[in-house]
Amino acid sequence: MELFEVYPLYDVTPVKALGSTVWDKNNQQYLDLYGGHGVISVGHSHPKYVEKLTAQLNKIGFYSNAVQNPLQQQLAGKLGSVSNCEDYNLFLCNSGTEANENALKVASFVTGKSRVISFENSFHGRTSASVSITDNKKIQATINRFNPVTILPLNELFLLEKALEKGDVCAVIIEGIQGVGGLDEGTTKFFKGMEQLCWKYEALLIVDEIQSGYGRSGAFFAYQHHQIKPDIVTVAKGMGNGYPMAGVLIHETIKASLGMLGTTFGGNHLACVAGLAVLEIIEEEGLLKNVTDVSNYFVRQVKTIDAVKNIKGKGLMIGLEFENEVGDLRRKLIYEEHIFTGGATNKKMLRILPPLNITFNEIDVFITALKKLV
Ligand SMILES: Cc1ncc(COP(=O)(O)O)c(C=O)c1O
Repeated sequence: MELFEVYPLYDVTPVKALGSTVWDKNNQQYLDLYGGHGVISVGHSHPKYVEKLTAQLNKIGFYSNAVQNPLQQQLAGKLGSVSNCEDYNLFLCNSGTEANENALKVASFVTGKSRVISFENSFHGRTSASVSITDNKKIQATINRFNPVTILPLNELFLLEKALEKGDVCAVIIEGIQGVGGLDEGTTKFFKGMEQLCWKYEALLIVDEIQSGYGRSGAFFAYQHHQIKPDIVTVAKGMGNGYPMAGVLIHETIKASLGMLGTTFGGNHLACVAGLAVLEIIEEEGLLKNVTDVSNYFVRQVKTIDAVKNIKGKGLMIGLEFENEVGDLRRKLIYEEHIFTGGATNKKMLRILPPLNITFNEIDVFITALKKLV
């Protein structure tokens, strides 16, 4: 059997990784400023993460959600305290798109309505409801076009109210900071206004923190820069540092009922231990502070490079906009300078999503390489 080829691939075969360094099969070393689409939060193969996962695998790796698994409650408790979201309950699942599917389903269950409002350039995943609210027609099949969805420009409260007034909206969903769409974000005025309007028109406010969460913006969640309280928050990527897992944080005012949501794999023993290790490392190593410190340094250095026309994002979720398309630059960064970076829908943007414990020295390596190439 051959693979169903859906991914354009770089000719690199990683076989080993540690911290922000990746080695390929020829033992060539790379600096990882992309973390495999923002997944690596506490660094590749962090010793504590490896130790905890290995120990758990030697005990029990999986049993279903039909029996007690106290690790799930430990994870929920830890996530509540580290993120300052103790008044939320946690539903565990397996991927970002699944977290958003469940969030939307809860919103529809709770309100009895079905229309969703999302925003231009948004990305919320590739499955049924998630892809229908994603602003990218190319990845929607005919079967994905039946959900009632309204896609609005960011930061237009007037248009948002006009859409909500119709009374059929179950949820407004917004990324804390847009990811692949190009690092645009709502203003504090917009987030606060959106929160008010959702209350007024009885729609739930869902913040998709799948990429912007878990410390990446310098706050645990990017929405926390705006002092709002969403009804639902979705998380994935950095949550498991590479172990596939995701979560839906549901405000405690929304009541669960048995059978309302479910999954076979979600919240399994290994996932919980991966999630716990990530949170302990974030806390013990003060990674939120590191994100802010390194980000400030990074932005100062990048501002000295004339070819960079615009810097977007927060913390270690940064978009560098150039005059021209960056495809060639990214190839040179990989093949000549051995540095992984990311792209965006905006072809002129280089996306930087390194592990949260990246060092100043590693940033210097990138800055030197970038200066050389531009
Ligand atoms: C903001 C956002 N939401 C949802 C998703 C979907 O996550 P997954 O690929 O784990 O389904 C992504 C993935 O890139 C994302 O960036």
